Amino acid sequence: TADVVPQAPEDALFGLAAAFRRDESPNKVDLGIGAYRDNNAKPWVLPVVKQADDILRSDPNLNHEYLPIAGLAEFTSASQNLVLQGDSPAITDKRITSLQTVSGTGAVHLGALFLSKFYKPNTQRTAYFSDPTWPNHFQIFSNVGLPYKTYPYFHKETKGLDFEGMVNTIQSAEEGSIIVLHACAHNPTGVDPTQEQWKKLAELIRAKKHFPFFDTAYQGFASGDVARDAWAIRYFVEQGFELCIAQSYAKNFGLYGERAGCFHFVTSPSPDAQSTVSRVASQLAILQRSEISNPPAYGARIASKVLNDRDLFAQWEKDLKTMSGRIIEMRKALRGKLEELGTPGKWNHITEQIGMFSFTGLTEKQVDSLRETSHVYMTKNGRISMAGLNTNNVEYFAKAVDKAVRE
Ligand code: LMR
Repeated sequence: TADVVPQAPEDALFGLAAAFRRDESPNKVDLGIGAYRDNNAKPWVLPVVKQADDILRSDPNLNHEYLPIAGLAEFTSASQNLVLQGDSPAITDKRITSLQTVSGTGAVHLGALFLSKFYKPNTQRTAYFSDPTWPNHFQIFSNVGLPYKTYPYFHKETKGLDFEGMVNTIQSAEEGSIIVLHACAHNPTGVDPTQEQWKKLAELIRAKKHFPFFDTAYQGFASGDVARDAWAIRYFVEQGFELCIAQSYAKNFGLYGERAGCFHFVTSPSPDAQSTVSRVASQLAILQRSEISNPPAYGARIASKVLNDRDLFAQWEKDLKTMSGRIIEMRKALRGKLEELGTPGKWNHITEQIGMFSFTGLTEKQVDSLRETSHVYMTKNGRISMAGLNTNNVEYFAKAVDKAVRE
C-alpha cells in the first residue's frame, strides 16, 4: 500500500508558523495563526486561567482518571449556559444534549460525523460553507463523506458582507441542506451579519427547511461581551430550530493546546423532544467512544472552574476585555497609520471588521512581497491575525504594506 500513498501538501497555516520560526530576522512579524499575543508578541496566559490552574493544582484529590464518555458534566452544562445564555428554552425544556470534544475542531467533526450518519440518510445532502471559510471545514466534512458547496460571503469591493449573494445561494440550495454559520467574528473575514440580517437568514433557513450548524470559536473574544457574541445562536434557538453548535475554548480562554470544546445538539420543541434528545445522545456517545473514548480533562477542568464560579467568571470577562480591547486598539492604529501614509485604497474595513482577524484585501502577490522584503507572515488570502500586531511593530507593518501596495 505504501507506494500508492501520494505526498500531501503541508498544512498552509501550520506551515506558515514553521516558516516564521525559521526566519532569523529581528524584524519578523507573525500575523498567521489565530492565537492571541500580548503587546510583546508573547502568548498570554489569562490571569483567570492561572488562578483556576492554581486552585486545581492545590486540590489533593485531583487525579488523572478517565472522564465520562460525554466529558465533565459541570463543564458541558456550563457550556450550554454560556452559549445559550442561561435561561434559554432549550435548556429549561431539556431539548439539548452536549458532549465535551477535542476543542472546536473535534466538535465540528463530531457534528459532521453525526449528520453524515443520521441526517437524511440515503439522500443527497449538501453542506454549505461561507466563501471563504476556515479551511478545515472542507476537510472535516469531506472526511465523513458529506459533500459541500459554498455560499458567497465576502464582498470584494466593500470588504463587508455580500448579503445578497449569501441569501440567493441559500435560497436556491436544495431544501434541507446543512448551512454552516460562524456565530461571530467570522474566520477569515472578520465580517458578521447584523442582527437584522441574522433574522432574515433565520426566516430563509426555516422556509427552506435547512439545518443550521453553528461554529462558535470567539464568544467574548470578539466584542468582549459574551452575550452579544452569542446573540445569533440564541436567536435561532429561540426560533425553535433543530440545530447543532460546535464550541471552542481555544481563543476565549487561551486554552489552545488543551483542546477544550463542546458539541451541542438542540432539537425543536415537540412532545417528543426529550426522547429525541436521549436517542441523539446515545448515538453521539457511541461515535465519541469509538473515536476518542473520552475527552481530555485538563482544559475542561480549567474552563469549568471559571464558568461555574461567579468571581472567576467576572475576572474572565475582564480578561476578555483586555484581549478584545487590545485588538480594537491595533485596528485603530493600523488604519490610522495606513491613512497617514496615504496608502492607496480604503482602509475603513480594518476597524469595521471584528475579532481575531482582518481580511485586508491584500493580493497574493502583495502577501508574497511582504514576506520576502519585510519578513511579515500572513496567509495568502490576505488575512492577518490582528493579535500579532502591537505598539512595537504596527508602524513597521503599515510601512511594509504601503510599500507592497505601491509596487
Ligand atoms: C486559525 O484559523 O488561525 C485558527 O483557527 C487556528 C486553526 O486551527 O486553524
